Amino acid sequence: MTTTQGLRLIVAPNVGEVVRLAGNRIQAGLRAKPQGFVLGTATGGTMEPLYAHLAWRETASRMLDVDADLGGFEHVSLRNIAATFGLDEYFGVPQAFYGQTYRAFMELHLFSKVGLSNNTHLPDWRINDPEQARLACQAYEELIRSVGGIDLQLLGLGGNGHIAFNEPFSSFASRTRLIGLDRRTVVDNARYFLSPDESRGLGVEPGKSPYEKMVSGMWTDRQRAFFELVLNERVPNAAMTMGIGTILEARALLMLVTGAAKRAALHAMLFGPITEGVPATSLRTHSDALVLADREAIDDEVAELIGLPSDPEATLEGVVID
Ligand code: GLP
Repeated sequence: MTTTQGLRLIVAPNVGEVVRLAGNRIQAGLRAKPQGFVLGTATGGTMEPLYAHLAWRETASRMLDVDADLGGFEHVSLRNIAATFGLDEYFGVPQAFYGQTYRAFMELHLFSKVGLSNNTHLPDWRINDPEQARLACQAYEELIRSVGGIDLQLLGLGGNGHIAFNEPFSSFASRTRLIGLDRRTVVDNARYFLSPDESRGLGVEPGKSPYEKMVSGMWTDRQRAFFELVLNERVPNAAMTMGIGTILEARALLMLVTGAAKRAALHAMLFGPITEGVPATSLRTHSDALVLADREAIDDEVAELIGLPSDPEATLEGVVID
């Protein structure tokens, strides 16, 4: 099927293969534009193995000839990236929770690991005034324009089908702005604001979303009350986010989707109607969108629709969904 629109889907056997392919895609972007390449960054659990892989690749390439294994090309250092722009950032984060900001996430997982120190942009986490946020969001858009736009935008997929922090029913024309977060998103994000002991106290594996446990109705009154307190006092319920319109202006999009928790959202994104109710379906209107998923993220119906090979080690290349 040839089309100028519609996204390309690759299904890899596991997360390791997903991030290796994503690393190759980023390298291809850098090679095509060794000077002036602008990368849009994303945060979240899905991105952690990607950034670990990129950091490993950056170090390993200095010492070993790993490129033949990885993509058959000479590695271009990520220090050649001209600028990065984060998709989003929490609004009104308590000072004590800097470690939970997306700025801190990016510093920890990518920037410090590969030596990117200049021109790494994210909306400013210290902003806690709506008017200041409005102006900062406008300035962010201007900054993106001033460097000539984003060449490759990384994306994760929210459990409710959101991209960046564009919650369901965000306009496909939306721009960078302050947005209130869905309760589902706030609950999912609470995992980053709970200590491992607190998570375990709620019967949730540290680092995993408490959402399933919360809706299972298995919590005691005390657990429920504690969790409400965490939501009220720690977890931001608003964020500054690039708009869907802003994201769609990137010359290329690269989305990573891994794990069983994303099955329903991925299904809706690929085969549901293109609708603002599922922001990720907007990717199907872009001319250069690649989605890298692992098998875990594919439900039985999608597996059948795309003809996923039964061999668990096989990679399904290049299905175009429009
Ligand atoms: C947050 C981020 C999104 C990200 C989503 C999924 O809501 N704002 O950009 O895609 O989480 O996160 P995870 O990869 O942890 O599932």
